[in-house]
Amino acid sequence: MCQFGSEDSRSSLRILSHDTQMSLEDLLAWAPSGSPEAALAGQVDFDRLPGHVAVIMDGNGRWAAQRHLPRVDGHRAGIDSVRDVVETSARLGIQVLTLYAFSVENWKRPPLEVSVLMGLLKRYLRLELESLVANDIRFRVLGHMDGLPDDVRRELEVGQDKTHSNHGMLFNIALNYGGRAEIVHAARRAIAAGVRPSDLDEERFGELLYTSGQPDPDLLIRTSGEMRVSNFLLWQIAYAEIWVTETLWPDFRARHLLEAILEYQKRDRRYGGITQPAFVGGR
Ligand code: FPP
Repeated sequence: MCQFGSEDSRSSLRILSHDTQMSLEDLLAWAPSGSPEAALAGQVDFDRLPGHVAVIMDGNGRWAAQRHLPRVDGHRAGIDSVRDVVETSARLGIQVLTLYAFSVENWKRPPLEVSVLMGLLKRYLRLELESLVANDIRFRVLGHMDGLPDDVRRELEVGQDKTHSNHGMLFNIALNYGGRAEIVHAARRAIAAGVRPSDLDEERFGELLYTSGQPDPDLLIRTSGEMRVSNFLLWQIAYAEIWVTETLWPDFRARHLLEAILEYQKRDRRYGGITQPAFVGGR
């Protein structure tokens, strides 16, 4: 599979905009025939793709520990997974992809780890921006940008500015992000704007969140087997289907994303209702 953003593949990379459906032929051309990706991709129902996929990337530290490497090497290795998932999501025609890169709680980590993570984000954007632009991907940060180091914030602003008129996949990175902090921030904005309590409903409140105008996640993926939502998109994941894999983030690739999508397509989404209202019991 060609590597998203690598020098030799950039010209041949063709990502479909989300109003174009990927045909089985396109898919088979992308995934080598006989590969696990091709077998999985052949089963995907492109009429029922999740519109928004959100991912809690977890297990970088354990991946490094298993190899007797420093924790930061796990984060470094995680960048290849980020590239693969961004590329695959855009190819499939996912409308919104959100990756949880750094929470408001992650400042508690050792300063070296924090500074490596910030450096990786900057480097990732520098290396991938051209490719994001070429592939019509819009990049957004969800989180408190003012709390980030100046150089990182500048890099992110450049990324947002240069991609803001793109119309393909929306790629959010949640950074210095906390779900509760986001809700408090939205409440403050409502109060500051003088919104009357009787005018505040779920729709209006949603417009005050970082994800204003975006569909809620349909599929929430968490790697490394942990069964937690870790303060991620608390408002927005109200009805998301959750898929947890034991795979550690640096090992996560296109085939895992395809497995998650196939599992999602088996779920019966009821949003609090019932599937077959014909017989409800009673007289
Ligand atoms: C969780 O693993 C992972 C993170 C806190 C950071 C994720 C960041 C990256 C993959 C790199 C930068 C991202 C982008 C989008 C360019 P952990 O350290 O908590 O792992 P552990 O639970 O095994 O210790």
